[in-house]
Formats: sequence, structure tokens, C-alpha cells
Amino acid sequence: MVSDKRPTDSVTGTETTGHDWDGIHELDTPLPKWWLYIFYISIVWSIGYWILMPAWPYFWAGTWHYTQGVIGYTQRDAVSGELQKVAAGRADVVKQIAATPIDEISKNDALMEVALASGKAAFGDNCAPCHGSGAQGSKGFPNLNDDDWLWGGTISDIETTVTHGIRWDADDDTRQNLMPRFLDDEMLKRDQVSDVADYVLSLNGGKSDAAIVARGAAVFAQNCVSCHGADAKGDQTLGAPNLIDAIWLYGGDRASVVQSISHGRGGVMPSWGGRLESVTVKELALYVHSLGGGK
Ligand code: HEC
Ligand code: HEC
Repeated sequence: MVSDKRPTDSVTGTETTGHDWDGIHELDTPLPKWWLYIFYISIVWSIGYWILMPAWPYFWAGTWHYTQGVIGYTQRDAVSGELQKVAAGRADVVKQIAATPIDEISKNDALMEVALASGKAAFGDNCAPCHGSGAQGSKGFPNLNDDDWLWGGTISDIETTVTHGIRWDADDDTRQNLMPRFLDDEMLKRDQVSDVADYVLSLNGGKSDAAIVARGAAVFAQNCVSCHGADAKGDQTLGAPNLIDAIWLYGGDRASVVQSISHGRGGVMPSWGGRLESVTVKELALYVHSLGGGK
């Protein structure tokens, strides 16, 4: 039932719509003013926005277009502008890294930050396949996080290793020294290899017969000290590993040690000097040096 007049509700004092359902009246409360004004402002705002900015899609001549807006804004331009700014800023820092002696770079936090980030990225691209993504190494590929170094752990040692590689024939300045193949090249007999292996193991807490160890020690003194040193602590100028630090490149079980002595190992690392920009090699050396084992 609808009446013509719009009566006032006696409880709230508000006009009703006049609708009446079995005695229930619908109030006609006006919208709050603040709400109405915001509503009108948004309408005006949206019209302005449609004119200025890209807004409406439309279909024309078989493809989709959109209204471009009179100020010609596109997000793509905005992003590429930002990227150009970042690249220009970076190019500047990279130039500074290239121009600064490698030992000085760590004194400049801003350069160091970029160098380490770039070094890390270059490591992931070039080195991780052999050394592991965390530089943790694996059998035959040294861990670069520890302070156990084959060829030295100063920044410049590392830079040399990375630049020229290890036993990498294509580079004249590559790191050269090689462990002889004592059994294959008949420099030692099989039982001598066995004795000297027991001696090496005994230096690492392995238990064997005193007489065998004494024979092994004699073999070691004659054949091994020239590279590994009388104390068996190795020699970084020769890439000869420390044999008593319980860190093994090829394994510290008896079979692995016997194999190392019998056949040599001759691990190969490519040289990067000719392949990567010198500033990248620098960044790599700084990154590797920063991993925790740097000297
Ligand atoms: C093809 C595999 C391979 C790749 C790729 C490789 N390395 Fe190596 N790297 C080796 C091997 C093998 C050795 C150990 C060689 C040896 O027995 O002396 C080594 C040794 C090193 C050493 C010397 C460690 C020490 O104890 O003195 C450093 C530093 C090093 N690598 C850094 C890098 C960096 C940085 C990259 C990337 C630019 C890289 N390597 C890429 C195989 C690789
Ligand atoms: C001409 C130098 C040289 C001589 C001599 C030499 N070594 Fe080595 N040795 C090396 C080098 C370099 C390595 C690193 C492995 C490689 O060849 O890439 C090595 C590696 C080893 C390893 C493996 C270490 C590991 O971490 O897995 C053992 C074990 C070893 N040598 C024992 C001996 C014994 C025992 C002798 C004497 C019978 C000997 N070496 C003589 C240079 C030498």
C-alpha cells in the first residue's frame, strides 16, 4: 500500500519514503553532506584524469587501442627512464672500481657494496658450476669459504688465480705445478705408495704400525717435502696442499690418498682474464676474498 503523502516518522522525526509494509515504514534519511561532496569531487577528478592520462580502452579497425591522455604519460617510459638513471649511476661506480687499486677498494663502502654484489652475480654465472653456488666446493673443487688455500688467500693471490687459471694451457701465466704420478711413472713401488699413504694418514691421527709409518716417513722425506714441506703443511707458491689440516680436496680416506699419490690429480681451473672484463675479475676476487677465508 502506497500513500501519496510522505509522512514523518514519529520516533526519529525523519521523513519516510511513504512505503508501508504491514505497518513498517521506510525512513528516507538524506546522505551525509561529506559523503555527497566526496562523490561529486570524484566525478570531477575522474573526468580530469580521463583527459590527462591513458584511460579508456576502445576497439578500432580490428585492434584494441586506448585513449592516450593529453600529457602523453606511459609507465614504460617512466620505468626505462628510471633504469637509465640507475645504469648511469652504476657505470660511474664501475669506472671508479676499475680505476682504484684492488687493495684500496675495501676502504670505500660504496664501491665495496657494488663490487661484492657484482662479484656475487658473476660468481653465480661463471664459477658456481664448479665451486657450488655458495662457493662451498666439492670433491676436486676447492671450498672458497674456508681459510685453507692451495694457491694463497690474499686478494692479489686470488686475483692471479682467477685471471690466469690453474694448469690452463691456453694461458702462458697460468699456475703450473703438478703433483707427480708416483705409481704410473714408476717413481715409487706399490708398497712404497702404501707406506707413505699410511704416514700421511698417521699425521692426521690415523693409526698404523710404527714400522710402516717409519718407512713411509722416509719415502716422504725423499719424494714429497720439495712440494708439501718437511712439516707436510704444503706450499702455496706451488699449489701443494697442507696434508695435516684434515681438509681434503680429494678425500682423506686411505683409498683416496693412495689414489692421489699413485696417479696425481692435476685439477684444472680455466683462466678468466681473457674472457671477463678486468673489472669483473677484480669484483670476483673481492667477492671470493670476502667469503670468510680471505687473508
Ligand atoms: C671448470 C671448473 C671451474 C670453474 C668454472 C672455476 N673453477 Fe676455480 N677452481 C677449479 C679447480 C679444479 C680448482 C683447484 C685446482 C687445483 O687443484 O689447484 C680451482 C681453484 C680456484 C681457486 C684457488 C683456491 C685455492 O685454494 O687457492 C680460486 C680462488 C678459484 N678457483 C676461483 C674461481 C672463480 C672466481 C671462478 C669463476 C670466475 C672459478 N674459480 C671457476 C675449478 C673451476
Ligand atoms: C711437484 C710437487 C709435489 C710433489 C713432489 C708431491 N705433491 Fe702431493 N700434491 C701436489 C699438488 C700440486 C697437489 C694438489 C692436487 C693436484 O695435483 O691438483 C697435491 C696433492 C696431494 C694429495 C691430495 C690432497 C688432498 O687434499 O686431497 C696428497 C694426499 C698428496 N699430494 C700427497 C703427496 C705425497 C705423499 C707425496 C710424495 C710421495 C707428494 N704428494 C708429492 C704437489 C706435489
